[in-house]
Amino acid sequence: MNPQLEARLAGYKKLIQGRLEEVIRKGEPVSLYDPMRYALSQPGKQLRPCLLLLSCEAVGGDPEQALDGALAIEVIHNFTLVHDDIMDHDELRRGRPTVHHRWDENVAILAGDALLVLGYALLARVDSRHLPAILRTFSSAILDICEGQALDKEFETRVEVSLAQYYEMIEKKTGRLFELACQAGAMLGGGEEQTSAALACYGAQVGRAFQLQDDLLDLLGEEKTIGKDVASDLEEGKKSFLIAHARHTASPAQLMTLAALTERRPIEKERLTAIIALFEEIGTLAAARAEISRCLEKARSNLKVLPQNPAARDLEAFIGAIAERTF
Ligand code: IPE
Ligand code: IPE
Ligand code: MG
Ligand code: MG
Ligand code: MG
Repeated sequence: MNPQLEARLAGYKKLIQGRLEEVIRKGEPVSLYDPMRYALSQPGKQLRPCLLLLSCEAVGGDPEQALDGALAIEVIHNFTLVHDDIMDHDELRRGRPTVHHRWDENVAILAGDALLVLGYALLARVDSRHLPAILRTFSSAILDICEGQALDKEFETRVEVSLAQYYEMIEKKTGRLFELACQAGAMLGGGEEQTSAALACYGAQVGRAFQLQDDLLDLLGEEKTIGKDVASDLEEGKKSFLIAHARHTASPAQLMTLAALTERRPIEKERLTAIIALFEEIGTLAAARAEISRCLEKARSNLKVLPQNPAARDLEAFIGAIAERTF
């Protein structure tokens, strides 16, 4: 990773994690607060709060002014993960048991709900000049995420999902939170309309690329690197990019082989290797990589309207860091 970006992200993450631990130190009953603390205590990559702070600085704002917004977006992201793991029947997150696996689903539903509310409580601390617009922007994005998650579940039982439908689903479930991060950062930093809009488009494209990579990592990642269940999408019948693309590109014979390979669960290592080879043969892996590059180039083109400053340069370097990611 670019050393300037690396140093900046390390500084942001320290700030974010320190404050997150303060936010949730106390609280009873422990049956509610322990799982909430558990979800927040193992930091993830913290990409969304970092993007929020970077966007704030890129428009000339002070990141201190945007810190509550950054904390809010990370807490809300964790709410989505706790509920997503129930919905996806996943047992591993950030290298540890998921909340519903460590406790149970009732505990995880409530802990997730409370994380969402905690996120809003943090958001309510932002400068009152920005508060109404920030609340509107967050609420609309979170509703879109719920819509995306609903589509993701609906598609599990649908045979035909077009690539256009797939893109609508990932733009909502994942793209929107990245878009929100950049948009909110620009708003809190006092950015002008045109710059804020460009940053929002940048975030949406980074988020779209990010979910395409996540779909690839479900197949190609190592459990100990990604800290999540491998082949979970295949086992759950998800219409990930891989499946949506293959269904429209593969020959009938290839589709029959794919169906036979994915029929029995769990999918063990040997069958996974055969599935990877088949997706390679169909051209799905190359298509995913090409689309990721296209999204990241679109993201880059949105940075042209930004003023020249170190944070704007780091937003450009961020694209490179995403392109290289392996977890
Ligand atoms: C996971 O997001 C959910 C997706 C949108 C794929 P991250 O991969 O950013 O999760 P953490 O916060 O780093 O664990
Ligand atoms: C997650 O998509 C999107 C949200 C949490 C809203 P995934 O279900 O693919 O994310 P992972 O792979 O479990 O992290
Ligand atoms: Mg999931
Ligand atoms: Mg999911
Ligand atoms: Mg995934």
